[in-house]
Amino acid sequence: MTDGKRFEIDEPTLVKIGALADDLRIEACVVGGYVRDLILGLESKDLDIVVMGDPIKFAGEISRKLDASGIVVFERFRTAQMTIGETKVEVVGARKEKYDPESRKPVVTAGTLEEDLSRRDFTINAMAVGLNRFADYHETSFGQLVDPFDGMTALSERIIDTPLDPSETFSEDPLRIMRAIRFSSRFDASLSPRVRDSITGMKDRLSIVSQERITDEFMKVLAVARPSLGLKLMQETGVMKIVFPEISEMPGVEQRQDHHHKDVFLHTMNVVDNLAGVSDNVWLRFTGLVHDIAKPETKKFIDGVGWTFHGHDEIGARKMKRIFQRMKLPMENLQYVEKLVRLHLRPMALAVDGVTDSAVRRLLFESGEDFDDLMKLCRADITSKNRNLVAEYTSNYDLVYARAREIEEKDRIKSWKPPVNGDEIMGLFKIKPGKDVGVLKKAVETAVLDGVIPNDHESAVAFLKAHFAEILFEK
Ligand code: CTP
Repeated sequence: MTDGKRFEIDEPTLVKIGALADDLRIEACVVGGYVRDLILGLESKDLDIVVMGDPIKFAGEISRKLDASGIVVFERFRTAQMTIGETKVEVVGARKEKYDPESRKPVVTAGTLEEDLSRRDFTINAMAVGLNRFADYHETSFGQLVDPFDGMTALSERIIDTPLDPSETFSEDPLRIMRAIRFSSRFDASLSPRVRDSITGMKDRLSIVSQERITDEFMKVLAVARPSLGLKLMQETGVMKIVFPEISEMPGVEQRQDHHHKDVFLHTMNVVDNLAGVSDNVWLRFTGLVHDIAKPETKKFIDGVGWTFHGHDEIGARKMKRIFQRMKLPMENLQYVEKLVRLHLRPMALAVDGVTDSAVRRLLFESGEDFDDLMKLCRADITSKNRNLVAEYTSNYDLVYARAREIEEKDRIKSWKPPVNGDEIMGLFKIKPGKDVGVLKKAVETAVLDGVIPNDHESAVAFLKAHFAEILFEK
């Protein structure tokens, strides 16, 4: 038992909150993620304060004395939130909370610190550190650890376990099923056998949790250093089938006439981890997760050829909109994901067909500012164990990349702006707004991409003057 261990705390906001608690003779602790991260030596931005007394009154005092902004009070839950500088502070009264099974509404009453800690999600999050310096009216003192469920040991042994029976903890808030997976992958910790069994048995309860909360946790799993840890756990426990059914369809190795097709799920896991190693962009990682999403439905065995997945790039891209809508993912990222899924085979095809300048220009044009991410995806997609193959693919991509850099430097295709605009075309040729303007603009675009003219205004105007009739005649 590690209760009573003392920590040096120099976080100024906490020191001030502690002094205020002393003034008001109210017992206060910092709990949860801050304590966990303190023990792990990690930085933590949010402060969760538990008080044995009136949290709303105390939050009001903090807000006034510490110059907080945006205080929001939730009377019914006995909590208040505010921001102090960069720090988000939540103040909550130590509580017992039960969910009324009839209404599913929580019934909250005041409780002891230990009762409060017991109804938190995991033992690693169920530790508190005292903030008071004067010890005449409370049990804990500044910097002193309260750890009734031995979260310290769970942290050092990297185990995710619940303070109470997991079925009780998960019933209170089934989102904790996702949180267990998130913390497990973030800290490379294993689920205790009872937590694992409970998740497997209770996963259907996720259906009462809002999609936004589930998706938020899902994206946090993608944000960890090795997302495959959490994704595999979701698959093994059956959670993936509920949260992202298309991904849960991916596993399965098939064997036909000596050709076995690689398990798409395991390949995808490697791709996501590879991307996590080179980029913090969770949307690139998401793209890695879904780039082969249409493989299960497009797979076909062709005699003499082996397994094929014809069109999985385009079909996969077209699936994205519905998935984004269903998962309530932010629509501003849809185009990016669609685009990379659609184009993910293109650089290889280009290398195999011979790297022509116009093909590279078209790829730059279609991928635009996301060209570099596309190349990262392609390189992450090389998961073969065959060294020769890896060397061959890598050098193909090097070639495409080098060519693309040269062309981009010269022609600036990525952030494409038409070298002549519609107004100017109308003025030049005395034509009215209409289809012809679009046709002429398109002809300029094609001429640039084909390398017929350089990407500049003068060349574009000269080109249009020379070919005006021919372009409109041939349209
Ligand atoms: N908590 C809980 N059940 C939940 C959410 C939160 O018991 N469903 C408790 C945990 O004690 C947790 C604390 O509330 O530590 C704060 O929650 P939150 O800020 O969501 O998580 P953190 O643990 O701070 O993790 P992170 O650093 O990822 O924000």
